Amino acid sequence: MIALGCDHGGYNLIVAIKDYLDEKGIAYKDFGTDSDESVDYPIYAYKVGKAVAGGECEMGILCCGTGIGISMAANKVKGVRAAVVNNEFGAEMTRRHNHANILCMGGRVTSVEDALKYTEIFLNTPEEGGRHDKRVAMLTAIEEGNFEA
Ligand code: RB5
Repeated sequence: MIALGCDHGGYNLIVAIKDYLDEKGIAYKDFGTDSDESVDYPIYAYKVGKAVAGGECEMGILCCGTGIGISMAANKVKGVRAAVVNNEFGAEMTRRHNHANILCMGGRVTSVEDALKYTEIFLNTPEEGGRHDKRVAMLTAIEEGNFEA
């Protein structure tokens, strides 16, 4: 189950992503927004972040104008690793090395065609584990206030 969310700036991408997921038969839960009327991106980032961190959804996709604000907000939720992606290599590597669980993109900077490519790569790339587990555990430790460096 994929959690979806966006603000007005990312609404066009989420509409296309829903069509893509429907075509592929991939289940999703849409946390809104549901139009291109102006809204506050932290609301949708929080809802999707909670759904992913709490285990209700396996992964999430969030879109705003740039992907940046909505990723910042999502990353405030414990357990979220949200990554802004602007290229195919990043879509792959953030899954392999950062074990990202939320893909963030911007409707004002990324075309629908590219967003669907990044979505496909992100959803189909596994976490690499191994040496990256240790580094991802460090991210969790920073989040939990248990990190010493
Ligand atoms: C909304 O105008 C815009 O600020 C938002 O979509 C996003 O780009 C924030 O990072």
